[in-house]
Amino acid sequence: MKLPSCPLILAIETSCDETAVAVLRGRAELLASEVASQIDLHKVYGGVVPEAASRQHLRELPWLLDHALETAGVPLGQVDAFAATSGPGLASSLMIGAAVAKGLALGKGKPYLGINHLEGHLLSPFFGSERGVRPAVGLIVSGGHTLLIDLAGFRQYRRLGSTLDDAAGEAFDKVGKLLGLPYPGGPEIDRLAREGDPARFDLPRSMLGSGDFAFSFSGLKTAVRYLLPRIGLDPAASGGEPQLLRDVCASFQAAVVEVLVKKTLLAAREARRDTVAISGGVSMNSGLREAFTRACAERGLELLLASPALCTDNAAMIAAVAGLALAAGMSTPLEEDINPNLVLAYIG
Ligand code: KG4
Ligand code: ZN
Repeated sequence: MKLPSCPLILAIETSCDETAVAVLRGRAELLASEVASQIDLHKVYGGVVPEAASRQHLRELPWLLDHALETAGVPLGQVDAFAATSGPGLASSLMIGAAVAKGLALGKGKPYLGINHLEGHLLSPFFGSERGVRPAVGLIVSGGHTLLIDLAGFRQYRRLGSTLDDAAGEAFDKVGKLLGLPYPGGPEIDRLAREGDPARFDLPRSMLGSGDFAFSFSGLKTAVRYLLPRIGLDPAASGGEPQLLRDVCASFQAAVVEVLVKKTLLAAREARRDTVAISGGVSMNSGLREAFTRACAERGLELLLASPALCTDNAAMIAAVAGLALAAGMSTPLEEDINPNLVLAYIG
């Protein structure tokens, strides 16, 4: 099928608890990127409830599709290709977005692209950059993943290491829960940490000297759990010393950030890369952004941070990867199913 040089791509992201639709023209002209967050729905449970998430995707998608096309100012009939996240994620959530995108592709006789959510995050720091995707060490830090990748080019990825237990965002959210903060804990801890003393409590930097690129954050979470009664911080009892809470947040955040920064820089050195690309929800963290900015400047490394709108789950990053895949002549057969355990495994 002959495609225009700047094809119009409509992408859907429903891997977890955000319903998102984006419309992209060519490589970088983002015409619409709409996200309907389900945070309020899941807040009451303190985490994502899979069945509630998929039902909500079904409710949100029809109007969000209309809204995105209207914002983009393009009729559905002009879309050249349809994309959706095909994994990893919650099976019942992934199915909704993929089924809708496949249905549209089939109905309109256009190509379908199933996109790896992790690849969306990985390449999001390159979005809009004139030099495009280029060799780098990529760190994905989100609610579900902490992953270091050596990136030689588009679809040339080598996995360097990942977390052995909790993802960094999961650790933020679990510690947030321990501290009695609203879900998700990450942004709350970030906010409180800004006025806290990161040196007040000495928390473990797990696997910092392990000599490989694996991470572990569950011990840190346990350390915070044991710390709280020792310092007399009881989140259930309101009116405690607010500075104590800020200092715990700052000390916890500093421990996570130090491990992420040091291991990523070590990876850049070993892989001989001059560029570091950070993505995923946790890359919104102000302490992490500052620490990476400082450390990369000291070592003369180029730092690419995903723009805030592309850090947390969104469909623009899925559309962007679909655009690259289309340009490389790729598409996905409609028979190809979603895969909740999809790994990032393109090795070129
Ligand atoms: O990438 P994302 O939206 O979803 C996944 O693919 O997992 O990441 C969500 C995660 C949550 O754990 C949330 O707490 C965390 O990103 N997060 C943050 C911040 N903003 C979002 N963590 C630390 N600091 C933040 N400012
Ligand atoms: Zn994500």
